[in-house]
Amino acid sequence: MPGRLFPVGGPVSEKDIVDREDFIASLEARLADGQSIMLAGPRRIGKTSIAYEVLRRLKERGFYTSSVDFFRLSDKREFAFSLINACLENRTGVRRTLEALKDRAKSVAGLAKLTVKFSDLEFSVDFLRDDLDENALLEYALDLAEILANRDSKNMVVLFDEFQDASRVAGHSDIYKRMRSHFQNHKSVSYLFLGSKEGMMNSLFGNRREAFYRFAVVLPIPPIPEDSWRMYISQKFKEQHIKADEKVIREILQKTGGHPQDTMLVCSEIYYALLETGEKTVTLEYVRLGYDRALLTLAQVYDEILDEIGQRACAREVLKRIAAGDRIYSKKDNPNEVKRALDFLITKAIIEKNGRGSYKFVEPMFREYILREL
Ligand SMILES: Nc1ncnc2c1ncn2[C@@H]1O[C@H](COP(=O)(O)OP(=O)(O)OP(=O)(O)O)[C@@H](O)[C@H]1O
Ligand SMILES: [Mg+2]
Repeated sequence: MPGRLFPVGGPVSEKDIVDREDFIASLEARLADGQSIMLAGPRRIGKTSIAYEVLRRLKERGFYTSSVDFFRLSDKREFAFSLINACLENRTGVRRTLEALKDRAKSVAGLAKLTVKFSDLEFSVDFLRDDLDENALLEYALDLAEILANRDSKNMVVLFDEFQDASRVAGHSDIYKRMRSHFQNHKSVSYLFLGSKEGMMNSLFGNRREAFYRFAVVLPIPPIPEDSWRMYISQKFKEQHIKADEKVIREILQKTGGHPQDTMLVCSEIYYALLETGEKTVTLEYVRLGYDRALLTLAQVYDEILDEIGQRACAREVLKRIAAGDRIYSKKDNPNEVKRALDFLITKAIIEKNGRGSYKFVEPMFREYILREL
């Protein structure tokens, strides 16, 4: 079955990554050179897609690569397991080496074989015991990339996705100190840190008192230029013998603001609407239809964000005013509270400053949702 014409949800592969070539090449060169990098950016703008593509290229060049996604983890033991597995996969080609070993360790012969395979990595079969102290396991995990890279005479790149979640996973923010104390001694490994909570990431890497201060180069993720989107969208429709002229593509981009996932989603909904009717031309009517359908599928995401900010005094109210273009400060509220709400919405990457005293939505479709629903 062919993949989706406009892929949505989760990282996309090289051919659908619009205009990140220079950025990807630069990340690849820096990481290959041993530099560690931090990228922070709002939700669904393509961080993971970029990182996976960089890792894929490095792997092709012979680098060892590993990735750990903190979003999927719930405690220290899982973190340690995930990191160990991600490292060992380079040698074994097996995704969940530890689980596979556990299975084999049930037989004496299997156990003997396995200790031989990893004896040069200071690997102990004790790591497979359920009652092992998770801190001991983590100590091992945090140095494994360096040990492995050195034993196999490789350079290695390790990706940590949603890095700001490490403190939740470990149950304590000391985890950052602990990680840094290991990573800073690594000579053969460079690290790529991604995070969707920009405020936390910037503070972790940019604040003198924080553990990862100056550990990595912080790079901004460039926006995707409108021209690149236009070429990509028109090409994609053309492949399916669908006409989409410049006017309708401009309309799509104007409505989505070029937000990566929102733009993909609107295009995808337009495509399905055309499939339903069998028509072969994107008209403004189809753009409206695709947009409305996309907004419906985004409702769940937006409701979650609204729930989250609803707990903050006046944040919702302030957001509504920005959406409607009303005055942000009103006589009836406490100005400090409004200021705090604005800062909060900025750290959540929902709005951004647009000049003095003016703010705009990072995601124009979220603005539209608020206008329609609240
Ligand atoms: N460069 C790009 N070109 C086209 N579409 C993109 C691009 N980057 C991201 N997208 C779209 O955004 C979606 C999300 O991408 P990805 O998972 O890489 O983003 P993310 O920033 O890691 O998101 P999250 O905050 O959810 O982790 C993709 O499925 C795709 O539809
Ligand atoms: Mg991601």
